[in-house]
Amino acid sequence: MKLFLVVGTRPNFMKLAPLWRELRKYRDFDPYVVHTGQHYDYEMSQVFFEDLELPEPDFYLGVGSGTHAKQTADIMVRLEELFLNEKPDAVIVFGDVNSTLAAAIVTSKLLIPLYHVEAGVRSFDRTMPEEINRVVTDALSHMLFVPDDFAVKNLKNEGIDESKIFLVGNIMMDSLVTILDKIRSHEESILKKHKLNPKKYGLVTLHRPSNVDSRDTFLKIYDILETIAEDIELVFPMHPRTGKNMKNWGMEFKHVRVVDPLMYSEFIALQKNALFVITDSGGVQTESSFLNVPCLTARPNTEWPITLEKGTNTLVNHDKELILSLISDIKDGNYKTGESIPLWDGGTAKRIGEILVRESEAESESRKA
Ligand code: UD1
Repeated sequence: MKLFLVVGTRPNFMKLAPLWRELRKYRDFDPYVVHTGQHYDYEMSQVFFEDLELPEPDFYLGVGSGTHAKQTADIMVRLEELFLNEKPDAVIVFGDVNSTLAAAIVTSKLLIPLYHVEAGVRSFDRTMPEEINRVVTDALSHMLFVPDDFAVKNLKNEGIDESKIFLVGNIMMDSLVTILDKIRSHEESILKKHKLNPKKYGLVTLHRPSNVDSRDTFLKIYDILETIAEDIELVFPMHPRTGKNMKNWGMEFKHVRVVDPLMYSEFIALQKNALFVITDSGGVQTESSFLNVPCLTARPNTEWPITLEKGTNTLVNHDKELILSLISDIKDGNYKTGESIPLWDGGTAKRIGEILVRESEAESESRKA
């Protein structure tokens, strides 16, 4: 069975790696990696392939950036041509980025079975481009692999047939478990390289359009971060979107330490040893919960409510008073601790592999009958 796994951006690569490795173990599956090129900078893309020990993509489409419509359309045109030539038996997509949406639409129109990993996740905020990508991709998918009970409920509420929904856990935790093992022996040297001491600094990532595309909003965030950094060291590996905007506005941090985007292993080492994390990323909220590191999410909502309920996450948006008081709780050891989340255990790719085998065997039986 020729399976095409389509990815395009940094957060896709951690979801791809464990599944690609798992599918290669089965004689019946032939997994191919298709990289759309949505993320094209070395440190946003290639470095992740190296860190995750992924091979060069089998197909690289080189789309680059553009408006949402242009980027999505470019990916669609190139994927359609590829699928018509290569005739995959099924297409697997991950998460919620524009590459996911584009692949979902093309796959469906060519009547190829579509499988979505990390389905059912919802922020209920349609001003987020990712939310639109999630809803459309899920509506078109034949098999939906979901990370938690919230996601199951969301899909059922949208009228998705229960037989298509598979609760398998969070595949990003598979990559996290693997990388933690890999960095164990040189975690200290990674911290040393960045001149950091365990639990003595905060880690920041911000790139959502709602936080970094408006100067007024970003100024609020800037003020909060600078205030924190007068007291405790803050390291900010900066996404190119944020970097470009700050440059255009002629803004520079005085106290916050800005660094280039980090490779996965370095980022996880810094996250694990941080006193706290301030972020607007979806993946970082889930990783912080797994690592039991306090996470303050600079958003009014989250597509990962389980991290609020069971994990270490708190929604703080741009509330300076709340953020400063939570950081003081963290320093005093009074912040909540997380508990483990069911099926976030490193075994998600294996569960997906087993389900795919079972379903493909059932299908070939029914064809014979
Ligand atoms: C995308 C995803 C988002 C994900 C994020 C992680 C969508 C809708 N958004 O947002 O869900 O959390 O990736 O990184 O798909 N750029 C570079 N180099 C790169 C990539 C981008 O300079 O390698 C620039 C682009 O030119 C653009 C900006 O960064 O100016 C934003 O890139 P884009 O791919 O549109 O979205 P992200 O903000 O990265």
